[in-house]
Amino acid sequence: MSDTTRQAPGGTTTLAGHRVARVGFGAMQLAESPGRPPVDRETGVAVLRAAIEQGVNHIDTAQFYGETVANELIRAALHPYPDDLALVSKVGAVRDEHGDLVAAQRPEQLRASVEANLATLGADRLAVVNLRRTDTPPGIVAEGDQRVDLDSQLAELVALRDDGKIGGIGLSAVSAGQLRQALPAGIVCVQNAHSLLDRSSEPLLDLCREHDVAWVPFFPLGSAFPGFPKVTEHATVRAAATALGVTPAQVGLAWELAHYARTLLIPGTANPAHLTENVAAGAIRLSAETMAELDGLATR
Ligand SMILES: NC(=O)c1ccc[n+]([C@@H]2O[C@H](COP(=O)([O-])OP(=O)(O)OC[C@H]3O[C@@H](n4cnc5c(N)ncnc54)[C@H](OP(=O)(O)O)[C@@H]3O)[C@@H](O)[C@H]2O)c1
Repeated sequence: MSDTTRQAPGGTTTLAGHRVARVGFGAMQLAESPGRPPVDRETGVAVLRAAIEQGVNHIDTAQFYGETVANELIRAALHPYPDDLALVSKVGAVRDEHGDLVAAQRPEQLRASVEANLATLGADRLAVVNLRRTDTPPGIVAEGDQRVDLDSQLAELVALRDDGKIGGIGLSAVSAGQLRQALPAGIVCVQNAHSLLDRSSEPLLDLCREHDVAWVPFFPLGSAFPGFPKVTEHATVRAAATALGVTPAQVGLAWELAHYARTLLIPGTANPAHLTENVAAGAIRLSAETMAELDGLATR
């Protein structure tokens, strides 16, 4: 067993040919979180380096997180990148001249976004790029010429994969029907909002199980945005955490890991103590009784 395998939080699974720890890191909180400014460079760099030191080798980012703040922090903290690090980004939106997030769904915009990510990250290749669709909330909803058919987008992403600029294609904010449509292109992961308390994407997760596609829930703790159920605030989650001597966030993350063997976590935090907690969730095993109780908290 290699050191990487032994230390991998949550064990490992594959992602576009990379063997990655099942507990990864989502970079959005470093760059933008409602109600607080981006972290200072020193903190951001420290959190990213701590993640790698604790065995994380899968980082989720986007060119548009905090304009380019997240990608710049990743580069400052980790370049030259460890060989086993899977840098995963997403395309489908950009910042406009006012800094507002707008859809950028057209095939040539997807290519430009991949190039922009490579440039800011200082990388030759992204392990995976998620096509972030904008058909439905949460987030921006595309209108007009930004309502682009999925097949033309997949053709561009396949071309980018053939060019060697991306290692695999993922989908984000999609329906089960869209995943079915895209499967022939070789989809390696799906990233939809999902948590112990928000299981509305569960039919899509079932399809991932059926086709052995990795599941990368965003908002696994319920996000920092208002209006999403907060895993750490739920009374049953808190009671389970107290009984187990762990934290409520760890219960929520351990539930996600136990829910599907190919779930990859990307919890977001700018807090070093929370990072350590989230990584340690990879070692927590919930009993069948606790799983059943937690399973009952949200309807599908
Ligand atoms: N594909 C998409 O459309 C999409 C959309 C949104 C996000 N994402 C990705 O998914 C990642 C995860 O989503 P997210 O960051 O929005 O939401 P999240 O992981 O569900 O929750 C983040 C919130 O939880 C807090 N938190 C983190 N660890 C904690 C802990 N151990 N105890 C208590 N609170 C904790 C964070 O605050 P602190 O910083 O104070 O810890 C932050 O407020 C993002 O970072 C991003 O990479 C993708």
